[in-house]
Order: sequence, then C-alpha cells, then structure tokens
Amino acid sequence: MKTEEFFSHPCLLDDVQVRIEDNVLNVSRASRGVRLKGLPPQHVQPVHDWLQKCNAARAPLLDVTRQASGVDIAVLRALDSAGLVVEQSPQRNDRSGTAVLSRIEQRVLEQIEAMPEQDFADTMDRNGWNQRQLVGNAFEYYFITLGAYDAIAPALARVSGQCQATMASFVIEEYRHDRILLRALEACGYGERDVLDVVPLAYTSAVINELFYLAHVDPLAMIACLFVVEGRQQAGEGYLQMLQRNRAPQAYIDSHREHDRINNNREHGTISRQCFRHIDHIGEEDEIRITERVLMFHRVGVERLRQIYTYYADDANPCPRRVSELQVRSHDRMH
Ligand SMILES: [Fe+2]
Repeated sequence: MKTEEFFSHPCLLDDVQVRIEDNVLNVSRASRGVRLKGLPPQHVQPVHDWLQKCNAARAPLLDVTRQASGVDIAVLRALDSAGLVVEQSPQRNDRSGTAVLSRIEQRVLEQIEAMPEQDFADTMDRNGWNQRQLVGNAFEYYFITLGAYDAIAPALARVSGQCQATMASFVIEEYRHDRILLRALEACGYGERDVLDVVPLAYTSAVINELFYLAHVDPLAMIACLFVVEGRQQAGEGYLQMLQRNRAPQAYIDSHREHDRINNNREHGTISRQCFRHIDHIGEEDEIRITERVLMFHRVGVERLRQIYTYYADDANPCPRRVSELQVRSHDRMH
C-alpha cells in the first residue's frame, strides 16, 4: 500500500527541522532524519519553503483532494519511511483508524529510540553470528512462521467488512511459510524429523502466544501488532546481508530471501495500515489499550532476538533444543 493511500492529512512532527545543507534538503528530528538527495536543484528551495509551512501551521503536506504532484508524493514517501510524518486532520483529536495507527507507529519508534541499543534488530544484523547461532536462528524463525499463521487466522472471524477482506488475503498469503523456512534448516543438515523433536526458546513461544491471545480477545490490537512482526518494506535487507557476511549456506540465505520477497511484493509491512484505514472511529480507551499491547508486543519481539543471540552463543546450551535430550538430562539429574 502506497504511503499517499494511507494518509489523508499527513503533517510533519512538531519538532522536525528543515534545513538546506550543500544544496541538499535535510529533514530531521532527534535521531531520525532524511536527506532528500534525489530532489532536482530547482526544487530544493520551493520544497524547503513548503515543508516549513507544513511544520509551522500544521497544514497537511498533501492536499489529497487535488491531484498531488510527483514531487509532493516522493517527498511524502521519504518522510514517511524516516518516521517524520503523522496523520493529523483539522478536527482536533482525530480518532480515525489511520490517525490512531499513525500515533501507535510513532510510539513504537519512540520506544526503539529509548532502548539502550536503539534499533536492536539493526544491532543484531551488524554483529557476528557463529555457526550455532545461525542454526538456532533457523529453528526459531521456522517456529515463528509455523505458529504465527495458526495464531493470526482466528482473528478473521472477529473482524468484518473491508478489514476482514484485507485480512483474509493476508492470511492466505501467509499459509505454510514454514515450508519455505524449512529449506534453511535443511541447508544446515536438519529436516522435518528434527523439528518434531525441537522446542523453541521461551520468547519465540511468547511472540506466538501473544498473537494467539490477542486474536481471540482483542483482534484490533493483534492487527495493529502485525506491522511490528512484518517489519517495514525492505526491512529484511540488513538481515540478509548479515547472513551473507556470516557465511550462512546459500540455500539458507535463499529461503530467507524468498520469504522476504513475498513480504515485500505483497506489501505485508503495511498490513496494519491496510486494515486500519477501513476503521472510521476508535474510542480513546481502545486507543490506549491497543497502544499498550503493541508496545508490549514490540518489547517481547526485541527480547526474542536478544535471547536467540545470547542463548545460542553459549556452548553449554543445547542446540538444537531437542525434547528427547532434555528428557534424558532431567532423568539423569534424578539419579
Ligand atoms: Fe508476511
């Protein structure tokens, strides 16, 4: 889904600075920013002035009621991917699905910025991974794709209208992705018989269980969590480079690339936006509850990555985590 289809009143965040440096337009706040390098020289000053006006007067970046120009849309997309715009209609306290999700996205970005290692997913991608960690990661990724489908699908019965139709296509596209990820395990010498005997780490189970729980008790919160699971468009590129740098087998990389390609082509990173734009109104209490649940889900996801990295780095921990071996170990301890 294109950025301009989601927003109807996109505005710059309050504390965004707009500057021209070396003939390039810089738009930034705190640790977020974008350099609009592709802008033709004759557009730099007019776009600068236009953005200044949006910033000060809370005027929308685009008037979607008229045909927006190519420049407007390119700039809006760049600012959106840098997390610098929010939906803010002229009515105060806009409670449309778009405005609420836009605020939730901002809260997740703020949570990432408040974490000691900032974007932990990026930090992990930069770190060196040894063979054990790559094997463990392949198992954990497999279990997420296997469990997430079963967790998400029940929400279909609890939503309606366009939101249900959008979710139905998404659920169909997610079906049996574990088969794709199984190829990564096969590249490491494991197969279907092994996954039947292996248990995921606690935080991998926690992510799946949280989706299960929300799909039954709070489907809107579950749908709002999906952008955290799927990541932004092209978000998997750093991860694929990490696999390459750490000499993961080619078939391992190819299977993850295939999964990434489906996510990007089907625009899974915008699934929460695709659903929320069909919701006319969300009450204040609902917004508070959904926001808290998405923030918790994000924290659990970050802990999951940290646990994969640290658990499998320790040679004393079994890899893979075979149930049959765990039983032998506990039996041993009894004698
Ligand atoms: Fe997906």
